[in-house]
Amino acid sequence: MPSPRDASPRLQEALDTTVEAVEKTIKRLLPETDFAERPLFDAMRYGVLGGGKRLRPFMTMQAAALFNVEPGRARRAAAAVEFLHCYSLVHDDLPAMDDSDRRRGKATVHRKFDEATAILAGDSLLTLAFETLSDRDTHPDPHVRVELVRKLAIASGGHGMVGGQMLDLIGEREEFDLGTISRMQRMKTGHLFAYACEAGAILGRASDQHKKALCNYAYDLGLAFQVTDDVLDVEADPNDTGKPANQDAQAGKSTFVSTMGKEQAKMRAEMLVHQAIRHLHVFDGRAEMLKELALYVLERRA
Ligand code: IPE
Ligand code: IPE
Ligand code: MG
Ligand code: MG
Ligand code: MG
Repeated sequence: MPSPRDASPRLQEALDTTVEAVEKTIKRLLPETDFAERPLFDAMRYGVLGGGKRLRPFMTMQAAALFNVEPGRARRAAAAVEFLHCYSLVHDDLPAMDDSDRRRGKATVHRKFDEATAILAGDSLLTLAFETLSDRDTHPDPHVRVELVRKLAIASGGHGMVGGQMLDLIGEREEFDLGTISRMQRMKTGHLFAYACEAGAILGRASDQHKKALCNYAYDLGLAFQVTDDVLDVEADPNDTGKPANQDAQAGKSTFVSTMGKEQAKMRAEMLVHQAIRHLHVFDGRAEMLKELALYVLERRA
């Protein structure tokens, strides 16, 4: 199972705590079942449990902590973000999309089960995210719950993650310029990163200024993260990433690496990470973990 390497000991400890807490919450929200439709739930659990760096839940927990959100509520929002993210991975790996056999060091959901089950597992992880957010246990105020639901819908839909995935597929046939690639990567990854942070702020009824600072941090970091993902695709060890190497070039995808080369792409990621960190200044040193997370994105091997 890939785990974040090269994180500082402090960040590693905080990430481990999040992984454990979120894993427990996910198991509670997604229990095993004995109904006839059991393979669906087995596939959902397989796609979510036992792997993944859990960076998005970490962002939600850290952002929520800035505003003294009750941790149980933050964990539910964090689990919802991870459900949404895992749905996107299950569908991203399908033969009609990236056609990947391995994810998080094991067979992808459609390889372990079958394609139809993987489609359905993705569908129901997506809806489980919204079910979780809209539950009273996530926040007693319905206005807060509606904002959580609405913002996730926007971040993950046609003008966000799914739109970015559409561009990614078009980019296999057409050559994109840098502006289009940036927009695509921001949509694919930046919007969900931004939501992961904003969810913590929404739960804590943060000011618009604080929400904006977190979103700007996460947009830049998400873009940097996708740039490093594209770099890792060409240079990482599949034993570290838990997924096959050189997939982007084989599919003819338009990425920062295909357009500007690996070294320029790394420089772009570094510039974006430092830009991301600058947005945290409004928190007067209280967002240290988010700063360390940003620096880790540059060092990561998985
Ligand atoms: C993979 O995301 C998909 C991208 C947005 C690049 P992660 O690298 O966060 O995947 P897991 O959750 O750790 O497996
Ligand atoms: C996936 O991007 C981004 C999503 C929104 C799922 P990639 O296709 O590059 O992610 P990996 O490399 O398969 O994890
Ligand atoms: Mg993809
Ligand atoms: Mg992929
Ligand atoms: Mg990739």
